This record gives sequence, structure tokens and C-alpha cells, in this order.
Amino acid sequence: MNTTGKVDVLLGLQWGDEGKGKVVDVLTPNYDVVARFQGGPNAGHTLEFEGEKYVLRSIPSGIFQGGKVNIIGNGVVLAPDLFMDEAVDLEKSGHPLKDRLHISKKAHLIMPTHRILDRAYEAAKGKNKVGTTGKGIGPTYTDKVSRNGLRVGDVLDNFEEKYAAHKERHMKMLKALGWNDFEGFEEVEKKWMQGIEYMRQFQFVDSEHEINNILRSGKNILCEGAQGTMLDVDFGSYPFVTSSNTICAGACIGLGIGPNRIGDVYGIMKAYCTRVGAGPFPTELFDETGKTIRDLGHEYGAVTGRERRCGWVDLIQLRYSIMINGVTKLILMKSDVLDTFDTIKACVGYKLPDGTVTEELPYEIDAVTPVYKELPGWKTDMTKFTDKKQFPEAFANYIKFLAEFLETPIKVVSIGPDRDQTIVL
Ligand code: GDP
Ligand code: IMO
Ligand code: MG
Repeated sequence: MNTTGKVDVLLGLQWGDEGKGKVVDVLTPNYDVVARFQGGPNAGHTLEFEGEKYVLRSIPSGIFQGGKVNIIGNGVVLAPDLFMDEAVDLEKSGHPLKDRLHISKKAHLIMPTHRILDRAYEAAKGKNKVGTTGKGIGPTYTDKVSRNGLRVGDVLDNFEEKYAAHKERHMKMLKALGWNDFEGFEEVEKKWMQGIEYMRQFQFVDSEHEINNILRSGKNILCEGAQGTMLDVDFGSYPFVTSSNTICAGACIGLGIGPNRIGDVYGIMKAYCTRVGAGPFPTELFDETGKTIRDLGHEYGAVTGRERRCGWVDLIQLRYSIMINGVTKLILMKSDVLDTFDTIKACVGYKLPDGTVTEELPYEIDAVTPVYKELPGWKTDMTKFTDKKQFPEAFANYIKFLAEFLETPIKVVSIGPDRDQTIVL
């Protein structure tokens, strides 16, 4: 098959919340279609422009620029009630969606009982809990892989009966787990069913055909990742990960695109690092500096409001992510958060328990101690800059150092949450 359009993939290189939503919005004018390929309402992608702020969970971040078609791919898990809330709000704010947001029939539905199962599994893990978003992500993907899932396409035929059978199976599982907290369940279920009815107003599509036809007609697609590479179920800090493949290969699986169709892979990274939920984080800061980054960067979860753990940028971890994803272009976010720092640290090696130092992220990521390089801060407010020529020398040196160490060019620098606070290099 000879396709002429191109597919680029944009994804997070750290533990999520790198600023993917903002960049998708900025890049949307260069594409005909934007598509989400994995994850679900565990994502919270923030966009700011013209004094307004939006947080998207299941809807792709390409819906604000130029009336483009946006696609929710087969790899996504969708909660009809949350989707309805999100879509209704967007339509109210003047962004009509119904004729240009297409949903794959193969996307899996997150049932109310999946969310209870999420809580029950977390409770059963006790102190080893993952710290999930509680959106039912793990149980829904588990049902998908164990061939028990309920899909968007199921809505079209004999749905009530299918739903009841799945619910009954979940109830048995919850009983086995000794779970008996069903407070408010009936209301949630009622709203969920309203969400199903609401969803019927959207186009349910065979998205793999739609996407490949779009490519064949010479149009370009941007794939929007959710979460980050270190939350990938195979390559992340397992078991403290999400339940999908967040990496570039996930775009092939979650949309039905041949690997040879992938063009640029945009790797989104913060100038520091954050993580929400439990699990290893080698460069985490427990001191005042960590607190300062959290305050200046407003590092609180877009979905759960939880405090994000903060630390220095980890170049060993980033090199690993760049390798796994085949990143061709880096996009550096939130540099402005470090504008007031005297010095900045970057992790350039991991010390292992036996005293040796490695530059390769090991299986034992929880046992490493970071080795840092310290760089001078730029001590300049960059948030109103409009051109790279305005960058202070110390910042220019910092991005040069990052690009060299990571062996990948930095193509865009973001210096604030607004669409306009973006500098193309
Ligand atoms: P995503 O999940 O990767 O889309 O990222 P989130 O939206 O969860 O978190 C990124 C946060 O940083 C949001 O609140 C953005 O508005 C904000 N943000 C994005 N880019 C920048 C930037 O360059 N500087 C600052 N200060 N904030 C930014
Ligand atoms: P975006 O797309 C940051 C984390 C959760 C938890 C783990 C598993 O906004 O970057 P889950 O609910 O997926 O089973 O939780 O993954 N997590 C995220 N952290 N950003 C996200 O999405 C996340 N989605 C899930 O905190 O540690
Ligand atoms: Mg987020």
C-alpha cells in the first residue's frame, strides 16, 4: 500500500504531565487529524489560550484549532459518564464536537464496576498500592486482555444484556475480594447509562480504516500519547505503571498504523521531573528545593489534585525513553519554573548498590543513587520571551548540554502554560 500522508507521534518521556496537551494544541495547525491511541480519563491534559484554561481527559487536544477531525482510537479506554461531562463542557464553551470527534468501535468501555474494582485491588495491595487515579484503567485493560471486555461497538446491539452479564461477573469478583462499599453506585450507574445514550450522537467508526484512508489521501496525522514512558506497562517502573503501552509502538497498536508509517517522534520533557502516585523516582527531592519546584511549577495533579513529587531532570532515564521511542525531536517544557534558581542539577549517572556507576537504566531502578552534574542557573524571567535570541547565555548552554547528552535536537522550548509562550528553535 502506498500512503502519502505522514504520521507523527507525540508522547511523554517521563512519568506523565510533561505538558503534552499544550504542545499538541500548538502543533495542531500542521496536521489534518489528531488521534489519541491509549489511556483514558487517567490523563489530564491542560491547555491555555486567550485567557481560558481547559483540562482534557479522553478527548484529544487537537479540538481547539481549525475545526480538525479528532479520533479516539481503539487503544483508548472510555468512561461514557466522564466523556459526557467533558464533551458537554466543551460544547458549552463554544467548541462543537459532534461531527468531528470520531470514536473507534473497538475502544473499550470503562464500567462503573471497573472503577470499584480499581479501588478494591488498590485496597488489597495495602502499602504496596500503585496510587492509581481510581478511574478503572487497570481493570478495564485487564478485561480487554483476558477477552472479557465491553467495547464501544457493543453499544449498537443488545447492549443492556451484555452490560448486565459483565456487571454480574464483576460483582462476583468484588465479592471474592470481600468488597462491600457500593455507596452511591445506583446514581453512578444511572449517569453512566445516560453517558451511553449521549455517546450515540457521535460517529462510531472503524478507526483503523479511517486513519489509513486519511493517510492514503495525503493528509497528515498527529498521534497524542497519554501518561509517559516511565508509566509504560512493559518499560516503565513496573509495577508502578499504568496498564497500557504509552510508548511510540502503542500508537501502531492503538490506532492500527504500520510501524513504517511513523515519521517524527516528539518527545516531551520537563526541565525537571515529576511523578504522581507511588513507585521509584531516583532524582526525587524531599527538601526545600523540591517544594519550591512544586510551588513554582504548580505541580498538582490535573485529574486528582494530588501533589506531584518533584525532582531534578534525569538524563539517564530520558536517554532510555528516547531509545525506546525512537525520539527524533525533543520539546523542553517548563524551563521558566527554574528561572530563579542559582544552580540546576541534572542526573548523568546511576550509582548501583555495588558502587559502580552506570549510564543505562537498570531493572533495579529502585536501588540506584543519582550522580549529578551541576549547571549555573540563568536567573532571568523568560516568560515573556518571543525569540531564542533573547535566551540568556546560561540557558542557551543548558539546552545545548541537554541536547548533546541526549543526542537528540531540542526543537521547541516552552516558557509558560499559554499557547503563545512557546519558542521554536
Ligand atoms: P500533560 O498531561 O502532559 O498534558 O500535562 P499536564 O497538563 O498534566 O501538566 C502540565 C502543566 O504545566 C499544566 O498545568 C500546563 O498548563 C503547565 N505548563 C505547560 N507548559 C508549561 C511551561 O512551559 N511553563 C509552565 N510554567 N507551565 C507549563
Ligand atoms: P497524563 O496523560 C501522571 C499514574 C497514576 C499512578 C499510575 C497508575 O496527564 O500525563 P492508573 O490510574 O493509570 O492505573 O494509575 O499512573 N498516572 C499518571 N501520572 N500523568 C498521567 O496522565 C497519569 N495517568 C496515570 O498516578 O501512579
Ligand atoms: Mg496530565
